[in-house]
Amino acid sequence: MSDAHNYTSDENPYLPKPARIIRTLPQILDHQLFQIRFEKEEMINNFTYRPGQFVMLSVIGTGEAPFSISSSPTRPGIIELCVRRIGHVTNALFKLPPNAPVGIRGPYGNGFPLDKLEGNNLLLVAGGLGMAPLRSLLRYALDNRSKFKDVILMYGARNPDDMLFKYELLELIEQPDVKCLLTVDTDNSGMWKAHVGVVTTLFDHAEIDPNNTYAAICGPEIMFKYVLEELLKRNFSKNRILMSLERNMQCGVGKCGHCMVGYKYTCLDGPIFNYWDAINLPEMV
Ligand SMILES: Cc1cc2nc3c(=O)[nH]c(=O)nc-3n(C[C@H](O)[C@H](O)[C@H](O)COP(=O)(O)OP(=O)(O)OC[C@H]3O[C@@H](n4cnc5c(N)ncnc54)[C@H](O)[C@@H]3O)c2cc1C
Ligand code: FES
Repeated sequence: MSDAHNYTSDENPYLPKPARIIRTLPQILDHQLFQIRFEKEEMINNFTYRPGQFVMLSVIGTGEAPFSISSSPTRPGIIELCVRRIGHVTNALFKLPPNAPVGIRGPYGNGFPLDKLEGNNLLLVAGGLGMAPLRSLLRYALDNRSKFKDVILMYGARNPDDMLFKYELLELIEQPDVKCLLTVDTDNSGMWKAHVGVVTTLFDHAEIDPNNTYAAICGPEIMFKYVLEELLKRNFSKNRILMSLERNMQCGVGKCGHCMVGYKYTCLDGPIFNYWDAINLPEMV
């Protein structure tokens, strides 16, 4: 289990900690950013995590589901989850009133290996909802700017109205300490000022040295295929390519077997895998 996990071994790992939704920020259609705070001061102070980890969020009386943490551990106190409304739990979550009680257990998963990433260039490549876990890493890197060399974000959405965190990312375009490349597949509005084209077209707009860069990728499955092609074409070492991969999960703690791919538990060994893992577990991507 991850060493960023807060709980001692004699605690019931399935017991959610009481928390409240303190603010809901609409993003795009059927996607909202939920700001959540634990009820107990002790949990607020002790909850630490790594970018790339996830929590199990429970909606009382409905059930629970895993969500990547979108906020950064550099800004403690509030946990941010960017959620797409898709089914049972998320439909109930979207109907909750302000200040509603929810349950949180976690953090779970390995998260990004920050000790390895620090001192290197960081290339973040996201598509759609893949920006949710990568926003945590991006904010972490920007809040610890001196620990990283170049920070490059490549993010693609289907169209401008589908771009998550659009306004905060547009602000980054002007910022000198990050290269923020945003693209949309199509722009019918004619108002979009950044790039148009699939996310891989952004590779032509950045200089990337594969020898001192870690790439972190998260997005739809089809995007992985083409982004991996670009990275391998640029001679990226397979252990410098990190992917955030999702599988159906139930327990989140390596007990139920729902998330198993080959011999790996996605909830314990992942959700962050390097490209070597993907080659050894072909059904992973
Ligand atoms: C590690 C991890 C991190 C995640 N992070 C986020 C996040 O940041 N934001 C977010 O919106 N969602 C995230 N998800 C996906 C989220 O957990 C599911 O969408 C959630 O379970 C939906 O619950 P539900 O009860 O609303 O939908 P359900 O009623 O359970 O399911 C609705 C439909 O979605 C399918 N489904 C459920 N889970 C998945 C999955 N993981 N992959 C593909 N299809 C699935 C079901 O098969 C079903 O067809 C993450 C999943 C994992 C495993
Ligand atoms: S979700 Fe139960 S073993 Fe991973």
